[in-house]
Amino acid sequence: MDKITVIGAGNVGATVANVIAHKDLARELVLVDVKEGLAEGKALDIWQTSSINNFNTRVVGVTNNYLRTKGSGIVVITSGIPRKPGMSRDDLIKTNANIVKEVTEKVIKYSPEAIIIIVSNPLDVMTYCAYLASNKPSHKVFGMAGILDTGRYRAFIAEALNVSPKDILSLSLGGHGDQMVPLPRYTSVNGIPIDELLGKDEIDKIVERTRLGGGELVNLMGTSAWYAPGAAAAQMVEAIVDDQKRIFPCCAMLKGEYGLKDIYMGVPVKLGKNGIEGIFELQLNKAEKKLLVESAESVRSVMKVLDDMKLF
Ligand code: LAC
Repeated sequence: MDKITVIGAGNVGATVANVIAHKDLARELVLVDVKEGLAEGKALDIWQTSSINNFNTRVVGVTNNYLRTKGSGIVVITSGIPRKPGMSRDDLIKTNANIVKEVTEKVIKYSPEAIIIIVSNPLDVMTYCAYLASNKPSHKVFGMAGILDTGRYRAFIAEALNVSPKDILSLSLGGHGDQMVPLPRYTSVNGIPIDELLGKDEIDKIVERTRLGGGELVNLMGTSAWYAPGAAAAQMVEAIVDDQKRIFPCCAMLKGEYGLKDIYMGVPVKLGKNGIEGIFELQLNKAEKKLLVESAESVRSVMKVLDDMKLF
């Protein structure tokens, strides 16, 4: 791809940029931030690893100069404030909705054809906000959460079983909040169902730790995570750039799937050069459906805050 842009040169944005560059996914990567010099500095630092780590992607940083992002094929938006201990992702909405709206409008002005990936929190509602601000079809505007959430889930299972995390296959549905729905029934170790290897109590504990996984890191570090969120967003970029048709849980607009409409939430999708190329609807059992409905209700309560802000 000719050009990829990452908006926000904080911890997450810089990590996304770094992983994309390492994977050599674009001829040029533009990193943008509002803070004078921050994107320039981080981009220069990443670019100076190119000869050491053997990549060609030219990494460039700019302060608020959206003209420099013109013609991007993919734009990853990480802008906004992160959580502090004691905050939920939803507490960020008032600040971050204004930022995400403004940034999306500027991005679209210079790259009307871009696929937009949202990483800002509260993720599901910020993705909805970017969708409204962009006026683009929803298969070109979606969010990163499921790869991060299942990344945590898979890491915990690998640890419990002392096996390679690469062999853990899993899915998580719902919003990127404490109500997310990791699905043990759809989890296996290279095909071996997880309940043949771990007891119910152990699985329940891992599911609970996954649901609260972001908060665990906020409590440890005083701010939210970046290595796993950054790597997860870069994996989505890679699937699109290489038209891989990979199946990942991503935050997508639902139009009747799972009995839900006009809401962005985590579901398994196919990712390729056109963005979201399909949504998979699972045959959930009663208990799983109930959890998904609860997660959707929690997302809708935050959507209501966005509605009340009257930004659109
Ligand atoms: C997390 C934040 C980035 O889950 O939402 O770590």
